[in-house]
Amino acid sequence: MTPAPEIINRKVSHFDLCAHQAVEFRHKTTWLEAVELVHQPLLETHLEEIDLSVEVLGKRLAYPLLITGMTGGAEEVGRFNRDIAAVAERWGIGFGVGSQRVLLRHPELKHTFAVREVAPDVLLLGNLGIAQARELNTRDCVRLAEQIGADALCIHLNAAMEIIQEHGDYDFRGSLATIERLVAESSLPIIAKETGCGFARESGQQLARVGVRWVDVSGAGGTSWVGVETLRHRALRNLGEAFWDWGVPTAASLCELRGLELQLIASGGIRTGLQAAKALALGAQLVGMALPILRAYVAGGTAGVDAFLRSFTAELRVALMLCGCARVSDLTPAHAVLSGQLLEWVTQRALPVR
Ligand SMILES: Cc1cc2nc3c(=O)[nH]c(=O)nc-3n(C[C@H](O)[C@H](O)[C@H](O)COP(=O)(O)O)c2cc1C
Repeated sequence: MTPAPEIINRKVSHFDLCAHQAVEFRHKTTWLEAVELVHQPLLETHLEEIDLSVEVLGKRLAYPLLITGMTGGAEEVGRFNRDIAAVAERWGIGFGVGSQRVLLRHPELKHTFAVREVAPDVLLLGNLGIAQARELNTRDCVRLAEQIGADALCIHLNAAMEIIQEHGDYDFRGSLATIERLVAESSLPIIAKETGCGFARESGQQLARVGVRWVDVSGAGGTSWVGVETLRHRALRNLGEAFWDWGVPTAASLCELRGLELQLIASGGIRTGLQAAKALALGAQLVGMALPILRAYVAGGTAGVDAFLRSFTAELRVALMLCGCARVSDLTPAHAVLSGQLLEWVTQRALPVR
């Protein structure tokens, strides 16, 4: 049998490593534990009337949740995309596919990203790396997303995981100009997305200046993509080990970007509904997750994902209720008290505390 090309093997190996190995940050957390939500004892709400729906990119979601881009590009993972997109459709939450780069060389694998048949109304996000977007014209980038019926295109910024690979992309010159061009020329909204190292205000300001309106912070504290690549590449192992925990924790990333003209997706290490509520209080419009969905699916199929989402959304609902909020937009920075390392970070970086 002819061996599958490296790029196709890679997606399967990423999926398997994330399913079975210790791929999360080792010492650094999201710092959401340094956010305390303020309990309100005197309530005038009914739990079942708490409205968790939000409007995102022109679509109404039943919950402020997104399953962020993971995979596609191999038969083995195409089934995952279809199953999880169908779950997202049923729950009324968003769904992103993984990098569509493989389609540039293997257009015949389009069906492994195609989910519209099972998820006709889901908020669907396409995905492409900044290094590939720079080499393509805008029409070709957008076509990748349009051919799967996506509502927006995520451009992932993944320098840390590339430069610890022996044959990764080391040249990120022209990144901002690429995003500026895409925003100006694309018929679809562009979402700037990290892949687990988080965001700083300076980068957020530059993106806002060129017209980006959505950022997925994908902060430190969850899946470490430096870690995943370190497990795959023995040659640069020492470099990978040194940077395994590199990045701005998710809570700090949100504090970095709030107050700019950006809508924020909080992802990176979000595992519970209570953490989601804290992220929303820090200024996120939407909360994203990857690894817990993959693991719930591997352990229990779509029923496993349903069970995970049931407890996640129940927790989120209770958190809103006990903060005295009737809807998601009621949860504001005034409900959150920062402490410890997070407060120190916000102070030293001279970020607005609220
Ligand atoms: C198996 C797997 C594959 C991923 N592939 C991509 C990808 O192709 N493009 C991308 O932008 N992010 C990718 N990610 C990153 C996630 O979208 C997310 O930003 C990151 O894992 C942090 O979230 P988490 O801690 O909930 O996993 C992948 C994550 C996982 C677990």
